[in-house]
Amino acid sequence: VNNNDGLAGFPKYKIVNIKDFQQQVQSTGCPVYFFAYPLTNEPCFLVDLEALLGKPVPQIENPYYGQFAGPLGSIKVIKGVGPNNSIYGFSDVCVHLGCQLPAQVLVTSPNDPGLDIEDSILHCPCHGSMYLLEKGGIVVGGPAPRPLPMVILEYDENTGDIYAVGTNAPYFSASIPRTTPTDNLLYDPRYDYSTPSNPSCSKG
Ligand code: FES
Repeated sequence: VNNNDGLAGFPKYKIVNIKDFQQQVQSTGCPVYFFAYPLTNEPCFLVDLEALLGKPVPQIENPYYGQFAGPLGSIKVIKGVGPNNSIYGFSDVCVHLGCQLPAQVLVTSPNDPGLDIEDSILHCPCHGSMYLLEKGGIVVGGPAPRPLPMVILEYDENTGDIYAVGTNAPYFSASIPRTTPTDNLLYDPRYDYSTPSNPSCSKG
């Protein structure tokens, strides 16, 4: 019932209602919500960057702007959704060699694997790639060859439902060389990641 055509043929998928997300943030102190998109073995997460950082983050420049053909490649700025325009979606799989990222572990140092609540750096536990979420997942450390892909979201102000409608770049794929963004155009259904249940945050 949730699926209609999204951008460029991606499915439009209802992730969660804002009330449920806010309730989780309140009860756990964790502004992160996991979901799978577009395939059930492709974990992603929502993050409320304003709740994480304590400052408004109403939009992010798309690091992949102009790198892909079609409507997804023409998105220059990605706007946050929700009442404060502060909620964003990211893939939860590292684009280096495909480790799952511990976005549910909140840490206060970018050197610890997990999501740093002071500057929104998400640190991969495998080889130390570091993604700066408030700048669209750009790489600020480690071997990741490109930014962490973002999930494009839509928000229905009347119902409070948050939808995924596409991604700004392909996720990790082991079957294709990963030296440039355009080398990595395929999703890889052989991977069997699981999506953490909600709420699942811990303080690292
Ligand atoms: Fe994340 Fe290598 S898989 S840094």
